Amino acid sequence: MSGHATPVPMTSHPCGPLAGIAEVPGDKSISHRALILGAMAVGETRITGLLEGEDVLDTARAMRMLGAEVTDHGGGSWSVHGVGTGGFAEPDQVIDCGNSGTGVRLLMGAVATSPISVTFTGDSSLNGRPMARVTDPLALFGARATGRSGGRLPMTIQGAANPVPVRYAAPVPSAQVKSAVLLAGLNAPGQTVVIEREATRDHSERMLAGFGAEIATEETDEGRVITLTGQPELSPQDIAVPRDPSSAAFPVCAALIVPGSDVLVPGIGLNPTRAGLFATLREMGADLTYENERTEGGEPVADLRARYSPDMQGIEVDPARAASMIDEYPVLSAVAANATGRTVMRGVRELRVKESDRIDAMATGLRACGVEVEEGEDWWIVTGRGPGGVPGGATCASHLDHRIAMSFLVLGMAAAAPVRVDDGGPIATSFPVFGPLMADLGAKIERER
Ligand code: S3P
Repeated sequence: MSGHATPVPMTSHPCGPLAGIAEVPGDKSISHRALILGAMAVGETRITGLLEGEDVLDTARAMRMLGAEVTDHGGGSWSVHGVGTGGFAEPDQVIDCGNSGTGVRLLMGAVATSPISVTFTGDSSLNGRPMARVTDPLALFGARATGRSGGRLPMTIQGAANPVPVRYAAPVPSAQVKSAVLLAGLNAPGQTVVIEREATRDHSERMLAGFGAEIATEETDEGRVITLTGQPELSPQDIAVPRDPSSAAFPVCAALIVPGSDVLVPGIGLNPTRAGLFATLREMGADLTYENERTEGGEPVADLRARYSPDMQGIEVDPARAASMIDEYPVLSAVAANATGRTVMRGVRELRVKESDRIDAMATGLRACGVEVEEGEDWWIVTGRGPGGVPGGATCASHLDHRIAMSFLVLGMAAAAPVRVDDGGPIATSFPVFGPLMADLGAKIERER
């Protein structure tokens, strides 16, 4: 839902070793897609391990407003009775996607080729984010978008009554843009093609294939060419959502920087388009191992074991890896602050248009905590202070951004003095059990409200 009326300040105190098993919730990207594709199939899709964070719950409510029957059976088990491709009903209320860029952008794509008019809004973070990246390609299908200046929400999408298929070369590396185009392509006759220069997370492609759509990906000189044949009858699926690597990042990174820690994070999705952080941490010298590697529900999965790693060195992070760890740069910067030497992160312009400007948000808070950060439009450099060398002792602004809030709380666990965030409320969007889960491991996070 829009806005977190009352800020929830939180303080992370330096703590002793973190130890135990961290069962992080389901993958946010996969959870959104399971609900949306379930709603576009004919019949009943069953989902286990769904992330019950605010972002995904907002998408569940949106699917009901569009005519699907969505039922919560408890304990992460849900079912969706879909209306079929092109079967969405026009909602009689505005759809509020809360904080979720993924929710709103995927939904805009899903409705863009149905003859209905849908108005979307969100919280003040989401309503400040650029939507033209999605509405530009949706216009090629014949959809019309009317929003605020600068292509911002609230925005109405008038879906195309007679959509045409599209060939679209995405100008930004964005799985949300790619997925919006593919979802729109589902209800357009003929072949819709998306070309991406850099590989972004491919959960939509995998899940579309699972639901029975005809979809092929080809690596070419232009990049990855994804071709979808429109107007399939999607068959309902049983989907087991793996645990979210982007949430696993927080207990993993905390364990690496808190002396004496040893944490096991089981069942983490390790799709190569998502696993860039873990490769980067290992390059820095992290004691991070994959155990029990397996495939579950079409996605590679492993148990991650992270142990305190006082010998981590700053590195030049491979920019080609940016898309596969785009949500993890904030928490990587907290690790980098505890490493020895400089960690250089380039090719990360997209960080400026996430739930907050993540380079600015982290750089400001890290500096307040005594860490040197340099930044440019699409790069930033954190100078490590060595293990346990971060002074801390500051209040950092989370800017309605869950990952910024959690990254500073992780930083506080290994700092000399506590680190406070002005508002930890947004953590509920993606990782509602972050507080109790970290406390079980031994973290000392205090909530002021
Ligand atoms: C997501 C894609 C990423 C990511 C977001 C989730 C998705 O955004 O930052 O948290 O589920 O498709 P972009 O695709 O815009 O980079």
